[in-house]
Amino acid sequence: MSEAEGLREYYAQRANEYDRIYQKPERQADLRQLETWLPGQFGGRHVLEIAGGTGYWSQFIAPACASLTLTDGTLEPLEIARNRVFGRVVFLQADAYALSPDLGSFDAAFAGFWISHVPIERRHDFMVSLHARLRPDAVVVFMDNRYVAGSSTPIAETDAAGNTYQIRVLEDGSRHRILKNFPDEAQMQAMIGEFGEEGVWRETEYFWTFQYRNPCP
Ligand SMILES: C[S@@+](CC[C@H](N)C(=O)[O-])C[C@H]1O[C@@H](n2cnc3c(N)ncnc32)[C@H](O)[C@@H]1O
Repeated sequence: MSEAEGLREYYAQRANEYDRIYQKPERQADLRQLETWLPGQFGGRHVLEIAGGTGYWSQFIAPACASLTLTDGTLEPLEIARNRVFGRVVFLQADAYALSPDLGSFDAAFAGFWISHVPIERRHDFMVSLHARLRPDAVVVFMDNRYVAGSSTPIAETDAAGNTYQIRVLEDGSRHRILKNFPDEAQMQAMIGEFGEEGVWRETEYFWTFQYRNPCP
């Protein structure tokens, strides 16, 4: 099984317990702040959500945007999202690295806790896939974890490319080696490269957000 297949399999198995990550007591203040901030970035826009999972963030975005296309590479979390996210929303299985033209084109995109799972050597592939679906001047927002000792799962390993890995244990006791990177602002600016105007990086104690615009030709 490839690493990408292993990641999808892990999230399929984790779907029913996934939302517990949003119950960590120490993260609650940051979450309330981001839940308030995020929808305002998408007012009136047609939003493509990448790796939307169980729809935790989608439930806040959907009421603010003109439409939401909630995609994920795995069906199990999408089934949970279907019962949680309402409004002008479509739910579709889609590989973030191969976003089909059939999805349409969008003037906004959001990916929460996805960039951390993109291997450094695949960041460019992901950006090519995403930007093929974006209209000029589209707004893009990424959100992810900061590494916080005592709250984050420890890093078990670093490979030659600089990717970091965690050993994660699910409720059934199964253990999974999962690629989980913690990019800083410089890495995110480098990742958007030719794809965006200079991005805006923000940090809370436990999370970061990074937003930029697709340049007009
Ligand atoms: C950390 S979860 C994030 C879920 C959601 N965005 C959130 O913030 O709660 C990562 C998600 O990536 C999805 N995923 C894994 N590989 C993928 C791929 N190749 N394309 C799209 N989604 C993928 C998983 O199914 C999982 O739902």
